[in-house]
Amino acid sequence: MNLYNIKDNSEQVSFAQAVRQGLGREQGLFFPDVIAPLADVDALLALPLAERSARIISHLLGDEVPAAKVSELINAAFTFPAPLVKLKDGTYALELFHGPTLAFKDFGGRFMAQCLAAFRTNDKITILTATSGDTGAAVAHAFYGLEGIEVVILYPKGKISPLQEKLFCTLGGNIRTIAIDGDFDACQALVKDAFDDEALKKAIGLNSANSINISRLLAQVCYYFEAVAQLPKADRAKAVISVPSGNFGNLTAGLIAKALGLPVKRFIAATNANDTVPRYLKTGQWEPHQTVATLSNAMDVSRPNNWPRVEELCRREGWALETLGSGMRDDAQTRAALKRLHQLDYLCEPHGAIAWDLLGEQLTEDEVGVFLCTAHPAKFKESVDEILNLNVPLPGPLAKHAELPLLSVNLPAEFARLRAFLVG
Ligand SMILES: Cc1ncc(COP(=O)(O)O)c(C=O)c1O
Repeated sequence: MNLYNIKDNSEQVSFAQAVRQGLGREQGLFFPDVIAPLADVDALLALPLAERSARIISHLLGDEVPAAKVSELINAAFTFPAPLVKLKDGTYALELFHGPTLAFKDFGGRFMAQCLAAFRTNDKITILTATSGDTGAAVAHAFYGLEGIEVVILYPKGKISPLQEKLFCTLGGNIRTIAIDGDFDACQALVKDAFDDEALKKAIGLNSANSINISRLLAQVCYYFEAVAQLPKADRAKAVISVPSGNFGNLTAGLIAKALGLPVKRFIAATNANDTVPRYLKTGQWEPHQTVATLSNAMDVSRPNNWPRVEELCRREGWALETLGSGMRDDAQTRAALKRLHQLDYLCEPHGAIAWDLLGEQLTEDEVGVFLCTAHPAKFKESVDEILNLNVPLPGPLAKHAELPLLSVNLPAEFARLRAFLVG
C-alpha cells in the first residue's frame, strides 16, 4: 500500500512507515493513493467478521503484508462481535462496544497495537495521544504490557467521565496518563507541537495512536461491512448510516468502506453542539467556535483533525460534499432522545442517541437506517443514570477499574512542561 501526505503529496510512504510515523511533514495526514473497489462484495458479506476483515485489509495493503500475516493481526485484534440490533422503530443499532474497553475504539486501537508490534524496528517507541475519552482507554489497553513501547495519554482535566478516566488512568506499567488544564483541542494542539519538535520526536521515537494513524481507520472500515452484512439483503442498498462524530475518523472509515464498494446509500455526520462540520456543510464557511462541554463529551471537538481526509476522499471519488447528511443535537435534545430510545426498550448513551435522533429526522420512507452505538451505556453512567433515573450496572472490566486509584499527573496546557515530562 502506498500512501501520500495530503499536505505535501511528494511525501510517499508504505503502510508500515505510515503506521510507525503517524503524521507526515507539516502535520499532514497520510492517505492511501488507491482505494480500488473490492471484486465480489456480496460474497465477502457472507463471511464471518474476522475472515471478511482480513480480506478487506489484505486488499487494501496489497503486496506489502502477506495475507496470512494480515489474518494473524486481525484475529488477535478482533476478538469480539459487533451485533446489529433491530429497534422497535425499525432502525438498527450497530453495537460497537463489546470489546475490552467497551467502545468502538477497541477495533482501531487493538489493530494498531498489533501492526506497530509487527512492524516495529528495534528503536524505542513512545505513543503520544490525546483523548476526549475513549481513545485513551482503547489505546492504553491495546498497548498495555507490550515490550519496548511506552504510552503517554493526554486528556482534558475534569472533562471526561470519571469512569472513562478510571479505565485508562489506573493501569501503570508502560502506560502514563496526564490530565491537562484545558479542553480536548488544547490536548490535541500539544500532541501536534510534540510531533513538530524533530529533536524530541527522534529522542523518544514519537508515534501517535489517535485516529490520525491510518491503521486505526482501516480497522474501522471493517465494521461498516459488518453492519451491512447483518442487514436483510433487500435492504442493503437502502442503508443510511448515522455516525456520531467528533474527530471524524469514524466517518472517514465509513466513506472508505463506500469507496471499496460497500452498498451504503449515504451517511449522516451527527455532532453535538460542537457543530463546525454541519455548519460548514450548510454554509460553506469553516468557522470553528470555542469548544463547549456537552453530555457527549467524546465529541467535544470543534477542529476535527480527520476532516481533510473526508474532503480528500470526496474530491477523489467525485462525491459532492453536500451529499453528506449532517446535523447537530444540543444537550436538551440528547436527553430527550435518550429517553425516547429507552421507551423503545433500548438503553443507549449520549453519543449513540445523537446519531439515532438525527437518523430519525433525516431518514426517508424508502430508506433503512443504521446508527452507530460507539460506547456502552455504563461508560457514561453518571449522565445515563441521571437522565433515565436508572442505576446502570457496570460491566466486568469497568467494575474492576472503578475501584483502583488514579495514577495521572496534572500539567498546564504548556508544551515546554509536556516536553520536560516526556524527556525526563
Ligand atoms: C463514544 C464516542 N462516540 C463517538 C466518537 C466520535 O468519533 P470520531 O472522533 O472518530 O468522529 C468518539 C470519539 O472519541 C467516542 O468516543
